[in-house]
Amino acid sequence: MVKVLDYIFEELNSVPNFPETAFRALRLLENENVNFQDLAKVIRYDATITANFLKLVNSAYFGLRRKVESLPQAFALLGLNQIRFFLIAACAGQYLNKPLSGYNLSPYEVWLHSLGCGVFAELLCERLKIPQADHIFTAALLHDIGKIVLDMFVGGELEVIKELVREEKLSFMEAEIMVLGTDHAVVGAELLRRWGFPQEIIFAVRAHHDEDLMLQGRTSATVALANILVNLLGVGMGADGLSYRVPPSILKVIGLQDRELFDVITEGFARFQNLKQNLLKQ
Ligand SMILES: [Fe+2]
Ligand SMILES: [Fe+2]
Repeated sequence: MVKVLDYIFEELNSVPNFPETAFRALRLLENENVNFQDLAKVIRYDATITANFLKLVNSAYFGLRRKVESLPQAFALLGLNQIRFFLIAACAGQYLNKPLSGYNLSPYEVWLHSLGCGVFAELLCERLKIPQADHIFTAALLHDIGKIVLDMFVGGELEVIKELVREEKLSFMEAEIMVLGTDHAVVGAELLRRWGFPQEIIFAVRAHHDEDLMLQGRTSATVALANILVNLLGVGMGADGLSYRVPPSILKVIGLQDRELFDVITEGFARFQNLKQNLLKQ
């Protein structure tokens, strides 16, 4: 087991870095009066991110009625948090759009699950009026990135994990720990640490399946709740779509009223369906 663990952590170095474009653009976005020309210059430098960004913006808000063709045009229509959201989602796409054989998820489902989690996180941030939500968006959109890494490097062991889930009725996390000595939350957090992400984001990814840890802060609680909600709606569950429940104190930590949860679920689901359908059309 130790050997597998060493191997996984060694292989993390070979995962390409998170795009520098994202860090540079997010730094510019720390300024409330950011100059959109400067921002466009930074993002345009990366053609894939620009294309993904415009595709997502068009899917989420304007359908096919009114196509947004350029970055400045998109910026003029979006709030700063929305720009942050689409930017991170556009960058995350290149990691998430990979097949995950061991987890029974197609690339499209992984991408959708992550986007769904992001959509719920975005909605929660709106409700809570969080002005700078990029930490929450990043953690939500990348929360399962550890699965990609595990799938890339430990394909064989994943068969054993699946068997344990099937035969021994273990949860996917329990089986991951038993076979690999680690789980996708720990691996994902370690990858983000190596990429130089802030501690708050790393912690939220680490905590997203751990009921004690997720309650330690608002960011981790919001990301964990977004993941629970998207799983409850059955989006991209794959092999670990086992029992998800909303921990009783999580709403208190986040600052959300019980009665607001229903609205969040309804609105989040509608937004997500819209995004999904429009993405398919493109
Ligand atoms: Fe997860
Ligand atoms: Fe997840």
